[in-house]
Amino acid sequence: MSVPVIAIDGPSGSGKGTVSQRLARRLGWHFLDSGALYRLVAQAARNHAISLDNVEALETLAAHLDVQFCVSEDGSPPRVMLEGEDVTTTIRSEEIGGDASKVAAIPEVREALLERQRAFRTPPGLVADGRDMGTVVFPDAEVKIFLTASPEERAQRRYKQLKEKDANVIFDDLVKEIAERDKRDMERSVAPLRPAEDAVVIDTTGLGIDEVMQRVMAVCEERLGRMS
Ligand code: C5P
Repeated sequence: MSVPVIAIDGPSGSGKGTVSQRLARRLGWHFLDSGALYRLVAQAARNHAISLDNVEALETLAAHLDVQFCVSEDGSPPRVMLEGEDVTTTIRSEEIGGDASKVAAIPEVREALLERQRAFRTPPGLVADGRDMGTVVFPDAEVKIFLTASPEERAQRRYKQLKEKDANVIFDDLVKEIAERDKRDMERSVAPLRPAEDAVVIDTTGLGIDEVMQRVMAVCEERLGRMS
């Protein structure tokens, strides 16, 4: 029997990261933050001064990415190590997010990361967070959820998150950056951001995280029929 997967896709600021991590903790399942892999390729490209036009070098980088996700006992998000260096915070910046969406548009990079993502599917189950979890990486996922929210609310949420770490964040710049990233993610030729045909779409505009969790759990219970 195959290991069950809950695929949670959606744009930046839709709440999918928080929801996926909570869900994985609650179920005691593994967690895949696929966006982190694209962010890591972007970070590694910076470290090695590789241009984002250099497809061949980026493909090699993605295929040989030296990365570890160190899961902590206290339930906090895993620490991310790149080439032995802790980059957990560094890769969360909007600059790296922008670069990540550029490398993510390169088919060779996506292909190089495919098996690495699928390797996370181990018992008892996997909660996978991304843009193409339900469409490309785990098309046979038992549960597919697509979270979305209005662009204004997503920008507000990102702003709050980033402001905690960086006092210099400018809201209007953020709105522009998010819009550019969404456009690039939705219009790229490979694995564009869109709900799978069999995904349940949940609009989280105006909802708090607990309400979103309730709705997501209800979908999972209905589809898996065995969660408490
Ligand atoms: O989710 P996060 O903001 O960390 O993702 C960073 C970027 O990585 C996204 O803007 C997107 O371009 C890319 N990505 C992707 N496919 C995924 C996850 C992320 O293309 N499954």
